[in-house]
Amino acid sequence: MKKKLAFAVILLGIAGLSLPAYNLLVPYTSNALQQYKSDDPLSVRAAAILSEKCAGCHSQGSGLPVYGSLPVAKQLLALDISMGTKNVDYVKELMPEKPQPISAAALAKTESVVEKGSMPPGHYLAMHWNHALNADDKKTLTEWARETRAKQAPVGIPAELAKEVLQPLPDTVNVDPAKVALGDKLFHDVRLSKDNTVACATCHDLKKGGTDQLPFSKGVGGAVGGINAPTVFNSAFQFIQFWDGRAADLAAQADGPVNNPAEMASNWDEATAKLSQDAEFTAAFNAVYPDGYKKDNFVNAIAEFEKTLVTPGPFDKYLKGDENALTADQKAGLKIFKDTGCANCHCGPILGGQSFELMGLHKDYFADRGNVKDADLGRFSVTKVESDKHRLKVPTLRNIKLTAPYFHDSTTSDLAKAVETMAKYQSGTTLSTEQVAQVVQFLEALTGEFRGQKL
Ligand code: HEC
Ligand code: HEC
Ligand code: HEC
Repeated sequence: MKKKLAFAVILLGIAGLSLPAYNLLVPYTSNALQQYKSDDPLSVRAAAILSEKCAGCHSQGSGLPVYGSLPVAKQLLALDISMGTKNVDYVKELMPEKPQPISAAALAKTESVVEKGSMPPGHYLAMHWNHALNADDKKTLTEWARETRAKQAPVGIPAELAKEVLQPLPDTVNVDPAKVALGDKLFHDVRLSKDNTVACATCHDLKKGGTDQLPFSKGVGGAVGGINAPTVFNSAFQFIQFWDGRAADLAAQADGPVNNPAEMASNWDEATAKLSQDAEFTAAFNAVYPDGYKKDNFVNAIAEFEKTLVTPGPFDKYLKGDENALTADQKAGLKIFKDTGCANCHCGPILGGQSFELMGLHKDYFADRGNVKDADLGRFSVTKVESDKHRLKVPTLRNIKLTAPYFHDSTTSDLAKAVETMAKYQSGTTLSTEQVAQVVQFLEALTGEFRGQKL
């Protein structure tokens, strides 16, 4: 009897080991990033590691391991790939359809899992003994994240600080002061709206943190919009504009509200007709833009003004070495913010604005909230790609204390509640009341100054 048992155990052992052993003899590597090309040797090395050890779960359809067609394994792998790509799709990041830089969020997330040693997942390593990241791999991926980040950082951020996940705002911005002055006037000019009642500043009040502090904005004739108005402060540092990224930059963005029936309900021809009657403004405009009033010049001036809406504050001082710029609680909050993975998505100089992320990564936010509308679809509205559903541009957390209500759907005006929601749905964890309070205190250190005045 004992012998039989021992025999069975050995048999089971052999069976259990045969797959990992097979994987060792015939290593599985996804071929997802084989076509990746770059002039930068560090990026090529990083891509090779990601291709061999990561992309199988972090991209769609990059080939499965040999056991991938077995019934249970197939489902488990499908789940891994679904969760993996929801977090980060390395093929989309490194080989995008249209050329674009790799997102600072993907870099931050990669650096974070390397540091924690959490990837590849344990259950996968049990089958693929040779796929753990070795010391060289870790060094390469970390260096790649830091160097790539520095290369892509906005100009004006000190070189050493540009390698960090969270960065200070640039000290100076390169703008044409004459254009800024015109853009400032246009931004505050109600004549850009149909009935001369609404200016950009109506919904983006610089005295209210660059927002209207309303759940949903009111446009011409009291028309109510369907999505919360984000701040215009520091928006120049976003990789794209609008929650769904339908405008590539600030100039493209500025065309939207003027023509939007629920906002300014007008157009540039109407605005031109009105402004032309203003001899003083017209002369000033023509002096800067010799070809006079036209859409490209209007949006150019507005965008130039918006580039100056930069609000450095205590957090920037802290990042530049002033230990006393943050209180003990704020520093504790910052540590929680990083350890909980908040900084993986809320990264860069404005703690956000660097990527689209799935709202409800760890729990279905929209199922819990109910009543799903078009405004909830996020990036999907632009691309119509199923995996873009509910992916929203990560909002900046700069001046967050001033910009309630929160979230695209304005579901709360309580910053502590917003932090709890994020921990639950985006980080898959729960923070204690004290931890939440400390994170909120840290977020308050993100309130900055504009033109030398605290906001
Ligand atoms: C077997 C499939 C699999 C492999 C291989 C794998 N991952 Fe993952 N990865 C996942 C899954 C599943 C998740 C989601 C985990 C969760 O949310 O709890 C994930 C999450 C992540 C995240 C987001 C985590 C966060 O905290 O933001 C990153 C970044 C990541 N993986 C990077 C990597 C890298 C780098 C490698 C290669 C060294 C790798 N993964 C290999 C399945 C995989
Ligand atoms: C009636 C209110 C209203 C008016 C007027 C308005 N906006 Fe907005 N603005 C919004 C809303 C709401 C959004 C978010 C819409 C979306 O993402 O779909 C937005 C988005 C933006 C964004 C993108 C910010 C981000 O984080 O993506 C910028 C920049 C901006 N507006 C600038 C302007 C400028 C410049 C004008 C004037 C030409 C203007 N807005 C007029 C309500 C308004
Ligand atoms: C996986 C990416 C991701 C992670 C991790 C994440 N966030 Fe967010 N965060 C988002 C997205 C996307 C939104 C916009 C959600 C919406 O409007 O529905 C957001 C919105 C917010 C807002 C509201 C901003 C506003 O202007 O309305 C706050 C505050 C916030 N996050 C804080 C945090 C904190 C604190 C953590 C960590 C506990 C965290 N986030 C983790 C992606 C993330």
